[in-house]
Amino acid sequence: MSLLIKNIKELLQVRDSNISVIKGKEMKILPSIKNAYLLIDHDTIVDYGSMDDILDLTAEEEIDASGKIVLPTWCDSHTHIVYAGNREQEFVDRINGLSYEDIANRGGGILNSAEKLQNTSEEELYTQSAHRLRNVIKLGTGAIEIKSGYGLTVEAELKMLRVIKRLKKEFPVKVRATLLAAHAVPKEFKNNKSGFVDLVVNKMIPEVAKEKLATYIDVFCEKGYFDLEDTERILKAGLEHGLVPKIHVNQFNAFGGIGVGVKYQALSVDHLEELNQNDIEALKGSQTMPVALPSCSYFLSIPYTKGRELIDAGLPLALATDYNPGSTPSGNMNFVISTACIKMKLTPEEAINAATLNGAYAMGIENMYGSITKGKKANLIITKEVPSYGFLPYAFGDNHIDQVIINGQII
Ligand code: NIG
Ligand code: FE
Repeated sequence: MSLLIKNIKELLQVRDSNISVIKGKEMKILPSIKNAYLLIDHDTIVDYGSMDDILDLTAEEEIDASGKIVLPTWCDSHTHIVYAGNREQEFVDRINGLSYEDIANRGGGILNSAEKLQNTSEEELYTQSAHRLRNVIKLGTGAIEIKSGYGLTVEAELKMLRVIKRLKKEFPVKVRATLLAAHAVPKEFKNNKSGFVDLVVNKMIPEVAKEKLATYIDVFCEKGYFDLEDTERILKAGLEHGLVPKIHVNQFNAFGGIGVGVKYQALSVDHLEELNQNDIEALKGSQTMPVALPSCSYFLSIPYTKGRELIDAGLPLALATDYNPGSTPSGNMNFVISTACIKMKLTPEEAINAATLNGAYAMGIENMYGSITKGKKANLIITKEVPSYGFLPYAFGDNHIDQVIINGQII
């Protein structure tokens, strides 16, 4: 099967295959071809260029994209879409004055979701999660990282990871799985946190690695959850079993977690709503991608990650949704990009770079996803007719997507 997209108003994020990450000032540049064509063979991008050079190129199927923009699908490198039920009551509690911390302290929050998940069958959990995944694909997500962390027992964590494995098998999008066993201290270990870390290190990590159910290891490094010492133990154990670190850090407090992430060569450090100069220094010269989650800041009314400062310090930045029932019940990357422009003062070019190629880097798939590059997977967004790509973040809250193509197939 071949598919030719013609008369593209602008083809965005056209890159050579040797570009794997975009940093600092480079983030302001979004390479593109105006009045372009793009040719797909089966699931792969095989050719593109200016309509002036299309000559007599034809394909089995053709799309006329006059007035429309074509770009790579979003790479959402941080989600928790496998969960059971919802937490809208906590949402109302927060409106009425409780904080996220108050709710967690009285047994709500992550422990609330863990109880729901433990009491939900694997089949039902799959059905709920598949529904969410279907929706975000329609919103332009073509690659997604999914975490465990609402199980908190060996059995329930394995159940979550098996659901992720099934999503990977049943859906055409790229899925990467992360073990986030240390997401909260379960009730049974309330006065024995180190006992729970022992369980994570001695049982969960080896079991998950043996069954090849995850690529990454994550920890919620935060006051009241897991401290620097716990984080080090878990990352070390993960690495010994071939799991690469990708951690939750600096969401509410900055106390050195980013430095620990860098020390263990984390692929990404995510959240960073609270950031100090030491954190920025720790990231300089590292291979670790800082990831901002602006729809989490929006939903919880907490500070936005200082993405501007990170980029101005010469660093890269990725954007992701954090889709989860407690802090971000939304998986809409289009909203994330608008919010990054409006609230974090990223330019549209920076936000699109952060949500495509840098997002792909933050889940280790930049060699096949995240840009318009010959040989990469044909995962594309075709917009509706729009005046320019800047219109996408500008006209926020509207759906500008006309078609989504995954592995060369129109969804
Ligand atoms: O990334 N911060 C930790 N974990 C999730 C939220 C968990 C929840 O409230 O269910 C997050 O925001
Ligand atoms: Fe998260």
